[in-house]
Amino acid sequence: MPSSDNPLYWFVIPAAGIGTRMNAGKPKQYLILGSRTILEHTLSRILSLPNLAGVVVALSPEDTHWKSLTIFNNPLIHVATGGASRAESVLNSLDYLSGRASSKDWVLVHDAARPCVTLASIKKLCEELTDSQIGGILSVPVSDTIKRVADLNEIQATVDRSPLWQAQTPQMFRYQLLRDCLTSALTNNQNITDESSALELCGYKPLVIEGRSDNIKVTRPDDLVLAEFILQQQEKEL
Ligand code: CTP
Ligand code: MG
Repeated sequence: MPSSDNPLYWFVIPAAGIGTRMNAGKPKQYLILGSRTILEHTLSRILSLPNLAGVVVALSPEDTHWKSLTIFNNPLIHVATGGASRAESVLNSLDYLSGRASSKDWVLVHDAARPCVTLASIKKLCEELTDSQIGGILSVPVSDTIKRVADLNEIQATVDRSPLWQAQTPQMFRYQLLRDCLTSALTNNQNITDESSALELCGYKPLVIEGRSDNIKVTRPDDLVLAEFILQQQEKEL
């Protein structure tokens, strides 16, 4: 068991969704951008992090695509069984890490569908949270003017956007704390769409670490063109 004084860094990649909104005939993480699948782009960004202990990819029990990826037998990559919701897929991955990760190890949960995350953003997240006992998330301040809308599409008010941030991934938490909070949220049937919500519901205050607005989640068909463009632009930065 690793020492808690020197925490390891693990990644969990929920990749067991079916991409309903993409409606592409196969799960969106297996769609091709440029020369390879979205999941391969995502994994290659993550695998470039030095000192990585391992990556757990949560896959659907019905997945028929994973084994055709050249990355599938990378020794740092482990596979867990996905669940009915993203939160269950993440919790199954944390269960897989039981006995491998120690309670203070860091777990970075990152959507398979965010292939444009940069290594610099991941390093910033890790560095800024080093001394936290809880963790935090990559996030960007909301830049649009936000309206609160009532019935009949009538605008009720303009919301003060200064305290509003858009949550992204990776979301980075201490292993045991994340596992306990996710277990509690699922046991209590709380509808959570990210890991931070599970911590918040247990009374913790994760931090936001400012990331980049190009760390998009590929969700709808239009996002494919945008993600491909972003990846091409980022290649020029490297
Ligand atoms: N995910 C998962 N297990 C689930 C549902 C989602 O591992 N039961 C993963 C997806 O594969 C994705 C990430 O969680 O990488 C974010 O979810 P989302 O963007 O909502 O993907 P899908 O659920 O696949 O898409 P949709 O909601 O449009 O069906
Ligand atoms: Mg979904």
